[in-house]
Order: sequence, then C-alpha cells, then structure tokens
Amino acid sequence: MSARKIIIDTDPGQDDAVAILLALASPDELDLLGITCVAGNVPLELTSKNARITCEAAGKTDVPVYAGSNAPLSRPLITAEHVHGQTGLDGPELWEPQMPLAEGHGVDFIIGTLRREAPGTVTLCTLGPLTNIAAAFNRAPDIIERVQEVVMMGGAYFEVGNITPAAEFNIYVDPEAAEIVFRSGAPTTVMPLDVTHKVLATKPRVETIRALNTRVGHFTAEMLDFFERFDVEKYGSEGGPLHDPCVIAWLLKPELFSGRGVNVEVETRSDLTLGMTVADWWGVTDRAPNALFIGDADADGFFNLLTERLARL
Ligand code: BDR
Ligand code: CA
Repeated sequence: MSARKIIIDTDPGQDDAVAILLALASPDELDLLGITCVAGNVPLELTSKNARITCEAAGKTDVPVYAGSNAPLSRPLITAEHVHGQTGLDGPELWEPQMPLAEGHGVDFIIGTLRREAPGTVTLCTLGPLTNIAAAFNRAPDIIERVQEVVMMGGAYFEVGNITPAAEFNIYVDPEAAEIVFRSGAPTTVMPLDVTHKVLATKPRVETIRALNTRVGHFTAEMLDFFERFDVEKYGSEGGPLHDPCVIAWLLKPELFSGRGVNVEVETRSDLTLGMTVADWWGVTDRAPNALFIGDADADGFFNLLTERLARL
C-alpha cells in the first residue's frame, strides 16, 4: 500500500515536535506533504521556527514548512508559555534553523494541495488551534469534500478542560475555527484529553527514549523532561500527557485506540464555558454524529511504537 498523504498543521510545542518526529520517522506509511504552522502555544514566529528546528533535529530538511495564521479568526491570541516555556520548545539547547520557511502562506498551501491531489487522498493532522484549517475551508469550500480525514488533537468530554475548567487549549484559542471544522462534514477523528491524559511520558518511558543515545533520542527526552513538569505538578500524575503524537500514532496503528462516533458541538458564546466540546458520548440527543471521539489507548503500545520509530531517525 502506498504511503498516506498528510499535512501536519501545528503550533510546536514539545508534544507537537514529538508528533512531527513520529511522522518523519514513518515514511513507509506517511507521506508528509508539508507542515503548516499556526499561532497557539507561542506566537507564529516561534511555532514556525520550532517546526524547522524539529525537522533539522531529524535530519529531514526537505519537508516544506509554511507559516500560516498569526492569530485566531476573530479573537486575540492566547498562548501557553506557562506550559511550554518562552521558546515553546524549552528543554533541549535550541539553535537558529538553517532551513528557510517555504514561500507562501500555509492556508494557500492547504488549499492548493487539496485541489491538486486526488479527492479523498489527503489527511489533515491538526495539532494546534484550528485557525488555518477553518480559514482554508472558509475561503475554498470546494476542498472540504476532498479531505480524506481530519485527525485532530483537541477537546475533551470526561476530562473537561485544561486551559480553563471547561475547555481544552486548542479549541479554546479559536473556538469559531473549531466549530467550522466540526460542522464542515469532513470525516473527523478527535484525540481529546480523555485519551491523551492516559498517554503519560513517565520517567521510565522517557529514559527508554534517552537510552536510544541518538541526537533525536536526546532531543526528545530533553523536551519531555521540561514538558512533564507542568502537568505533573498540576495533576499529580506520573508524567506529562503526550497529546499531539496520538494523532500520528492513530494513523500508524489505529488498533492502539478505541472510541465512539458521536456528535461534537463547540461552545462559542458563553464566557464561562467558551471552547467547551460538548460531545454526545451517551447519545442523549438526536444530533447526528460528526466525529469519531477517541476515549482509550494502549499507552505501553503507544510508547513502544514511538520509541521504535524514533530509533529510526
Ligand atoms: C494541546 O495544547 C497544547 O498545549 C499542546 O501542544 C496540545 O496540542 C493540549 O491541550
Ligand atoms: Ca499542539
């Protein structure tokens, strides 16, 4: 079978960087057409720099990295330096990337790629606020039916929220964009906090990655050393949740995950619950399912996959 074509839309972020590495390490299964950056964890200037640093760490500098939207569709940007550090990628010693940004805007790249490739052959992997994807769908509605699948890290039902008591960060930053994607009709799979909070970068798992003793192994372990601090302190868990790599792991080994096809709506009006993903997990409404909402994962299987793939870089 030929490799599945994907675009990664991202706001690196240590966990975004690990997701990018996992994809770069899996060329037999995934054909990474390009990376589009969005403002989120840190401003666009940094996310588009961090994506290139990540590609360089992997020695894969031929993937085009585009800068996309620098702010949500209709709100001021909210960032998360308190989780990811001032650079967004705190942990390893960082460098100025040599790789240039690809010419053009990330949204134009998404539109152009979906129009160029055969219908139903390009998957959008979204690891940050959904601004770029919604902007592309707004500007070029013809591309929506050409999308094979949107695989998104975002939202929560049982875990409710992380940036507010009611909302997960990626959805909260641009709830209008998330609503556009959920209502678009594009086949959508969601990795909410409900599953990512079960995929913890515990000390032994991070040490196994460090023990690869490669550039990527050290780079990843140092990012995770930093990343786990915030959530471990907050939740008292054994490690930080490795949110975004779940998106790529789903494409590589869907059997590691389980979930339900449900309706998901996004709260865009209430100040108190802005960005909440109201998932009809129990089927108590007659709203039609619009997403496969993942709830569980084989965390050991996930980390075995991640470690085995990182070893290839
Ligand atoms: C999401 O928010 C960001 O901080 C992470 O990179 C992840 O995409 C988790 O809520
Ligand atoms: Ca992210």
